[in-house]
Amino acid sequence: MAKWLKDAIFYEIYPTSFYDSNGDGIGDLKGIQQKLDYVESLGVNAIWLNPFFKSPFKDGGYDVSDFKDVDPRFGTMKDFEDLLEDAHKRNIRIIIDLVAGHASEENKYFIESGKAERNEYSDLFIWNNNVWELPPYYRMIAGRYDRFGCYMVNFFFTQPAFNYGWNKIEYPEWQIPFGDKRTEPAKNFLKSVMRFWLQKGVDGFRVDMADSLVKGDDDKTKTMELWREFKRDVFEKDYPEAVLVSEWSNPKRSLACGFDADFVLDHWDNCFHRLVRSTESTRGKAVLNGGDFSFFKKDLLERIDDANQNNGYLAFISGNHDTPRIASFLDKKPLRIFYMMLYTLPGTPFLYYGDEIGMVHRDLPSKDGGYQRTGDRTPMQWSDEPQRGFSTSKELYLPVGDDEASVASQEQNPKSLLNYIRRLIAIRNNNEELRSRDFQLEICDDASKIIAYRRGTIRVVINLSSVDYKLQDVKEILAINGCEHCCLDLDQMALKPNSSVIYRLK
Ligand code: BGC
Repeated sequence: MAKWLKDAIFYEIYPTSFYDSNGDGIGDLKGIQQKLDYVESLGVNAIWLNPFFKSPFKDGGYDVSDFKDVDPRFGTMKDFEDLLEDAHKRNIRIIIDLVAGHASEENKYFIESGKAERNEYSDLFIWNNNVWELPPYYRMIAGRYDRFGCYMVNFFFTQPAFNYGWNKIEYPEWQIPFGDKRTEPAKNFLKSVMRFWLQKGVDGFRVDMADSLVKGDDDKTKTMELWREFKRDVFEKDYPEAVLVSEWSNPKRSLACGFDADFVLDHWDNCFHRLVRSTESTRGKAVLNGGDFSFFKKDLLERIDDANQNNGYLAFISGNHDTPRIASFLDKKPLRIFYMMLYTLPGTPFLYYGDEIGMVHRDLPSKDGGYQRTGDRTPMQWSDEPQRGFSTSKELYLPVGDDEASVASQEQNPKSLLNYIRRLIAIRNNNEELRSRDFQLEICDDASKIIAYRRGTIRVVINLSSVDYKLQDVKEILAINGCEHCCLDLDQMALKPNSSVIYRLK
């Protein structure tokens, strides 16, 4: 397992919306490189770069037409290599997206596989060869290719599923069993994609829909077997320092089959979501103190246990390109509490670009297959200048926000969200204990609405109740918020409602 992950603090960049270096109204790779000083200034040491591969953008680039090339909207392969080199010089690692489960309908191998005559790509994707036996619940698309039958959809209908085989077989006429040699083309293709980018020097992958590979695999045993094979054949042999981070949200499974970190996602059934996003739905306003503490406690402890047992990490996110912006959910005070948790919980924190200045969701028509997610992918708000300093073009790919959040306005203000997040990141960087596995949840219950946990000699306390909470054994305050009028005598300190603190214990 890669050693660097223990100390990693990630920043997620959606290339289309970060910085437009050539004035065409769309962000690009050179733009990201030009903003590396800023990324470095946050204190993060790793970037997760969303897809920049050739794509018709019917799903924001997660519909890849050429897995080994850069889309011209972002620049050239040389631009990517320069970005990687510059980032590495600054000790910033870059992981990229690996879209393992599907391609774009415009992928040339997929088009070949849709031809009536058999060829070397015929088995690369899942096809049902008998239209009349179409099981509708498999979401298959018929009638667009010469080949008699339908292709299987992995996510949107423009994303045909790679054929890694089936675990449970219901239709032996066309479902190819897992392990059959006809699934070799898909496996070999994915391995070649991984090797291609690893040879270029990327530091690993965030694996899209990592649990979706083998079909009819309810208990995921075969999908896990497949990931073990990828890990063994590609990573352990040649790239032991490269990491695999899974979009799975099930550390028991993902970390057991070779992933190094597993996202704790914006899903109803997990700790983070219930506490900091919403108690009701993903779209409503969340109140941190209305959160479900007992569920949070149970789920968090289970996940941490799974991570520790498998020597992996939980990847906590502020949000991502699929989730509504966190600043649209939480008011100013709870937002700061949330960030304190993000940077002090055990695991690997990920910050979504723009979250550090409190960018909010906008209701926008769908663009590039973003649908309701489009409004969470708007251009980075660098300044208050026209186009928010994102681009010199009058015509933008997506409109910029008109709210007050911007890097320039927060840069000089020591109390800004941006500088607060920088301080939290610095605290994590400067304290080994916060990057260790040491974690004790001391208090977390619905009755007191207090959350307190220890990381070695550091304690974090969050007061979500309506009364003051007396702090014990305070040696030094590392960070405090929502508590401007707290008593300064360390022995008498009480944490105000809606406040949180990180302190060193006596
Ligand atoms: C990505 C989405 C994408 C989907 C299909 C997700 O997990 O994060 O943005 O639409 O996979 O590739």
